[in-house]
Amino acid sequence: MKQSTIDININNLISAIDDRLFGSFIEHMGRAVYTGIYEPGHPSANKDGFRMDVIDLIKPLDIPLIRYPGGNFVSGYNWEDGVGPKDTRPIRPELAWFALEPNQVGTNEFMDFLKQVNAKPMLAVNLGTRGPHDAVNLLEYCNFPGGTHYSDLRISHGYPKPHNVKLWCLGNEMDGPWQICAKTADEYGRIACETAKMMKWLDSDIELVVCGSSFREMPTFGDWERTVLRHTYEHIDYLSLHTYYTNMDDDVPSFLASNVRMSNFIKEVSAICSEIKSEKQSEKDIYLSFDEWNIWYHFKKDCEQPPKWIEARPVEEEVYDFADALLIGSMLITLINHSNVVKIACLAQLVNTIAPIMTEPGGRAWVQTIYYPFLYTSQNGRGTALHAHVQAPTYNCAAGEDIPYIDCAVVLSENAEKITLFIVNKNLEEDIACKINMSGSEFSGIAEWVSLGGHSPSEINTATNASVQPQHANGASFNAESCTLTLPKASWNMLRLKIKS
Ligand code: AHR
Repeated sequence: MKQSTIDININNLISAIDDRLFGSFIEHMGRAVYTGIYEPGHPSANKDGFRMDVIDLIKPLDIPLIRYPGGNFVSGYNWEDGVGPKDTRPIRPELAWFALEPNQVGTNEFMDFLKQVNAKPMLAVNLGTRGPHDAVNLLEYCNFPGGTHYSDLRISHGYPKPHNVKLWCLGNEMDGPWQICAKTADEYGRIACETAKMMKWLDSDIELVVCGSSFREMPTFGDWERTVLRHTYEHIDYLSLHTYYTNMDDDVPSFLASNVRMSNFIKEVSAICSEIKSEKQSEKDIYLSFDEWNIWYHFKKDCEQPPKWIEARPVEEEVYDFADALLIGSMLITLINHSNVVKIACLAQLVNTIAPIMTEPGGRAWVQTIYYPFLYTSQNGRGTALHAHVQAPTYNCAAGEDIPYIDCAVVLSENAEKITLFIVNKNLEEDIACKINMSGSEFSGIAEWVSLGGHSPSEINTATNASVQPQHANGASFNAESCTLTLPKASWNMLRLKIKS
């Protein structure tokens, strides 16, 4: 059997992990909102029209932060359409996703929903069709206590307390030609800077995310980041990254190597932040907000686009398979291993649209394969990331050479009583033996080993069949200095080890 080792030193820290690494995203796109989280006629709907069956599936994910309302949608959005009496709100043709937007859910309803799932908002402002003034008006509506036009409007809408939204995105993917009112880097950098100044003048407690490139392969990648940071550096806090991986060629080994690209992307963007910091001779660090990440290709490959100009237009309803679950596990490992620079990340998205949770209008809700690695990593990946020195066999594929079969992240729990290892074995044919060596502390027991494996790469879950689910695994053994186990072929694993305090 092939062998691997993971060396851990309890004192060799990467960083405290920001809880916001386990954020998610709900856009007015497809059926994410309407018939996703919100469906007043549904048997499980609460008094506000939110589906409690969906909320019950979201809650265990322990999501600290949800980005809203877009995405591409935000670049054509009038936030005023979504507040006030519901029967007076306009229905509009929505140009990002070619649907009718009924505006029955807006800022206040989203805040109500967040309370149900114990999450905080990350709101995006429209820097496409609108600009700094509208952004600062929305901030006033959300955060100003009262006694001004927009804060009093909020109060008149039944929300006497400010929403206190701390985290704001300055537009969305403004470099993309598909974006409503896309901009050059200079155009965007200027407007983002002026918007940031005004927003922070109104509320100095907020944090701002400026748009990086829409994805790594954009022709303007790098130049875009540099130009935008030169305009905005002293006024913003985070730079965004977005990525969606695909497997159009049905090449699973190459697909599973995608998180190597994610890791390189993070390193490149982080290096650009350092470059502009030194160019500006600034004291300030800009951190990264990976506020859209996921896998997205099944719908494009297999499905026909639904008719335009309907409400809840069912676009991009990805059906995720077991291979996707493995890559999501590896992408989470990558995010943890870069937690010194990545402070915010949002799995895009949460319900129905490229999402771990699916619903039928009027009917059932269920979870897809990718739900599970996110669930366990979010629940158990809080604390401090430790360096893991991994020695593992490698493979060559179309995506590159010497791709390690084993991905691993190690997290020391907040009470320093356990370390949790998230490990993926990407070898589709063979189990791999693994020895975990500990220095600086001692193992005192195995708390839990959960493993997701034993499926073909294309196996899926449906409303009636949830065959892809993690199982508790046995067979790991330990002594004070090490733990040994066999990682099943094609598996995601979470191993929790007790350590002596
Ligand atoms: O998350 C889906 C879409 O992907 C978002 O609207 C956009 O920002 C990205 O291109």
